[in-house]
Amino acid sequence: MLYLGDCVKVMKELNSNSVNLIFADPPYFLSNDGLSIKSGKIVSVNKGDWDKLENHSSIDEFNNEWLKECYRLLKPTGSIWVSGTRHNIFSVEKEMKKLGYKIINIVIWHKSDPPPLIYKNKFKFSYEFIIWAKKGRTHYFNYDEMYSVNNEEMKDVWTLPAVGMDEKTFGYHPTQKPEKLLERIILATSKKGDLVLDPFLGSGTTCYVAKKLNRKIIGIEITEKYFNIAKNRILSIK
Ligand SMILES: C[S@@+](CC[C@H](N)C(=O)[O-])C[C@H]1O[C@@H](n2cnc3c(N)ncnc32)[C@H](O)[C@@H]1O
Repeated sequence: MLYLGDCVKVMKELNSNSVNLIFADPPYFLSNDGLSIKSGKIVSVNKGDWDKLENHSSIDEFNNEWLKECYRLLKPTGSIWVSGTRHNIFSVEKEMKKLGYKIINIVIWHKSDPPPLIYKNKFKFSYEFIIWAKKGRTHYFNYDEMYSVNNEEMKDVWTLPAVGMDEKTFGYHPTQKPEKLLERIILATSKKGDLVLDPFLGSGTTCYVAKKLNRKIIGIEITEKYFNIAKNRILSIK
């Protein structure tokens, strides 16, 4: 099921204890009018109004509101992944702990091909955090499937390339996540037939991969043009 709207409002209408797995890629609030380099060109770092902090009372309050609804929706054995950078992730972690989530791992997604620096006065940014947390005492983890990837225990640092051009055929989204990243998360922490929710759907990566892997899906997106990209992408899977 896909919803066009604000995730907090939509989630309030959904049933408690109904979701097995949540992946959330919320606004990082890094749209500060700075510059970056993309495909060799100097571009603005601004992603859109949805990524501007001035549209919210505070970052902690924003994160608390949507994390609270996610907590209510998760099954007692369910778990949640939240991605971010230093701009948002410490707020996410603080609010998660306040709400009762238990942190399982903090994964580093190391990007094998990060963009070059525009000002050559610091180290190149090459990773994002992804917090993995649970609601109850137990959680599902497919240890064997993860072991089989490299024939060893999977570490919490994952080197994966950025989004491929073949993943962008349904339209452009400024912060699209790679399908390989979602594939690993979904295979590791859900089973076939489980319900997977993404409250910040964007171009639809989570639900697209989850549907391909035979999971049930709920996706919520507030921006109509991204909602349409996501819908067409997800409906392309028969
Ligand atoms: C970081 S992007 C997610 C990108 C996504 N993971 C992908 O692979 O395309 C965050 C998305 O959340 C949407 N968004 C922001 N605030 C929202 C809200 N309150 N409810 C639902 N969607 C929201 C934005 O429009 C944006 O598309």
